[in-house]
Amino acid sequence: MSELVQVTDEGAVRTLTLNRPEKKNAFNAALATALMDALRDADESDKVHVVVVTANGSVFSGGADVSLFLAVAQGKFEDGKTVSALPWALRAVRKPLLAAIQGPAVGMGVTMLPHFDTVYAAKRATFGVPFVQLGLVQEFGSSWTLPRLIGRQRAAELILRARPIDAETAQAWGLVTRVFDSAALLDEVHAIAKDMATAPLDALVHAKALLRQGEAGTIDEARQAEDEVLEARYGSPTNIAAVQAFFARQKKKKS
Ligand code: COA
Repeated sequence: MSELVQVTDEGAVRTLTLNRPEKKNAFNAALATALMDALRDADESDKVHVVVVTANGSVFSGGADVSLFLAVAQGKFEDGKTVSALPWALRAVRKPLLAAIQGPAVGMGVTMLPHFDTVYAAKRATFGVPFVQLGLVQEFGSSWTLPRLIGRQRAAELILRARPIDAETAQAWGLVTRVFDSAALLDEVHAIAKDMATAPLDALVHAKALLRQGEAGTIDEARQAEDEVLEARYGSPTNIAAVQAFFARQKKKKS
């Protein structure tokens, strides 16, 4: 596996750490490929229940490597296409996918975030999309994801004003799930990931798929999809084992 993404396991939690700090974790084709390979590997590994993505260095990501823009201007599209595939690789992960943003996130470092299930940020993190300042526009379907996540007017200010917002604002707007003291970020995120990882993998995968499906349809469609999965899961071996464990704990409390 590439050194551009470090892979560490703690129980059923796998952490993928972007490791191009000298270029502020800017996404060139090599970094995007390394992350996509690592995501696929984590999704395929039965021992991994939850995946955390974070980064080394002072910046989470400086966004797309600006040399890609020059390459496109010279008619070289391959690397740009590779980097553009990243959000869809994030969306393809069936397991809970958490982001731990330890520092500033710029450009695609921000537009990739709606593709995570939850996003945690250090107090020192900032979130900015300077596309229009660069004569560009937003990417990765963020014209769809950002208004849904943070509201149309906030998305408009973020994109059109093109000034970074701080972590507290990002949380208030709904781009970030929780904010932690910078030094505590990884411990806090790992504690949350470990809580999630105690659940049976197949239940996590079904629950995430239902949440994703729910984004697109009506409440009736969401309930019907839930009922179909639940019908198959009531009385399943994992469900029975969990119920028996609950009663065993209750009995112990009373004795
Ligand atoms: N593409 C390529 N290289 C990048 C980069 C990017 N998106 N972001 C940072 N780098 C490189 C810098 O060129 C510099 O390389 P060098 O040391 O070889 O000269 C190195 O990373 C350090 O960057 P620097 O600007 O000195 O770090 P900083 O901590 O002062 O600022 C950022 C960090 C991310 C805020 C700043 O680098 C930045 O604004 N980068 C560009 C963001 C951008 O426009 N991204 C495209 C979005 S569409």
